[in-house]
Amino acid sequence: MNMPAKVKLVDVGPRDGLQNEKGQVPAEVKIELVHRLQDAGLKEIEVTSFVSPKWVPQMADNAQVMAGIERRPDVRYSVLVPNLKGLEAALSAPREHWPDEVVVFAAASEAFSQRNINCSIAESIERFAPVVEKARSAGIYVRGAISVAVGCPYQGEVPPEAVGEVARLMKAIGVQHAGVADTVGMGTPRKVQRAMEATLKHYDLADVSGHFHDTYGQALANTVACLEMGIWQYDSSSAGLGGCPYAKGATGNVATEDVVYLLHGMGIETGIDLDKLIDAGVFISDFLQRKPNSRAATALLNKRAA
Ligand code: HMG
Ligand code: MG
Repeated sequence: MNMPAKVKLVDVGPRDGLQNEKGQVPAEVKIELVHRLQDAGLKEIEVTSFVSPKWVPQMADNAQVMAGIERRPDVRYSVLVPNLKGLEAALSAPREHWPDEVVVFAAASEAFSQRNINCSIAESIERFAPVVEKARSAGIYVRGAISVAVGCPYQGEVPPEAVGEVARLMKAIGVQHAGVADTVGMGTPRKVQRAMEATLKHYDLADVSGHFHDTYGQALANTVACLEMGIWQYDSSSAGLGGCPYAKGATGNVATEDVVYLLHGMGIETGIDLDKLIDAGVFISDFLQRKPNSRAATALLNKRAA
C-alpha cells in the first residue's frame, strides 16, 4: 500500500457548492467564505466559474468575487471556464485578479456532455484546445475535470475505457491535471479505482485527483480506495454544499470537514485546522439557513455545545 503521508484538498464549495443555490448568494458572502477557508488552511479554493449566466445565474458575479478576495501568496485560486469566452472574461480583469488555475470540464458520457455544455465530447475537446493554449501561454495552470466518470444520470454505467479516452484527449491538448469526477455520487470503491486506473494510463499520479459527490454516501469509501492507490489530491466542499444543475438529484461534494476528520484520523496531514473549517461551514450554512451537511461537523458541533 502506498498511502500518502500528506493530502492536498481543494475546497470547491464557493463554486460547485453554491452554483446550484436557487436564491442569489451575495458576492460579499462568497468572498467571506473564501477568506474563512484560507484562514482554515486550505491551499487551493475553487472560487467561481466563468460560464454563461443564462445557464448558471448564481455564478454571474464571478468577476466581482475574484476582485474582492484578499489573496494569500501560498493559496491558489481556480475558476471553471467552459470556452474561450469564459477564459477571456477571467483575463479581462487586472492581472492581480486573474485565476492561478482554470478548470475545463468534459464528460465521459455523450448524454451528459450535451446536457452540461451543449456539445459532444469531441466538440468540447476542440473547444478547449485554444482555451488551454491561451491559458498556458498566460502562465495559468490548466486542470481538467472528467464528469460522470463512474456513472451518468442519463446513460447509467460508464465504462472505464470512456474515462481513459477523455483523459487521453485532454492530455493531447495540454491539460495538465485530470480530476476524476463522480458527478452523481453513484460510484463505489472498485468502480472508482477502475476509473482512476484508466486515467493513470495518461497522467502521472501527481497530476490526478478525485472529485466525489456524496449522494449515495460513498464518497469517503471512494476516497480511501484512492488513497490506497497513492492518490493524494481531492476536491471537497465546505459543509457538503452543492450539486450540479445538470445532474438532477445529485447532492453536494463530500464535505471537506468529513474528509479532514478521516485523513487526520488516519495520521495523514492536510495543514487544515478542523475547528476553523467547521466555523467556515457554519458561516455559509447559517447564511443559507440550514445545518452543515457534514457528519463530522455535526458531531463536533454537538460536542462543543455540550
Ligand atoms: P451555448 O448556449 O451552447 O453557447 O452554451 P453559445 O456559445 O451559443 O452562447 C449562448 C449565450 O451564452 C451567448 O449569449 C453567449 O455570449 C453566452 P447571447 O448571445 O445569447 O446573449 N456565453 C457566455 N457568457 C458568459 N461566459 C461564458 C459564455 N459562453 C457563452 N463563458 C456553454 C454553451 C458552454 C456556454 C453553456 O452550456 C454553459 O455555460 N455551460 C456551463 C454549465 C455549468 O456551469 N455546469 C456546472 C459546472 S460543471 C460541474 O459542476 C461538474 C464538475 O463539478 C465536475 C463534476 O462533478 O462532474 C466540474
Ligand atoms: Mg462537481
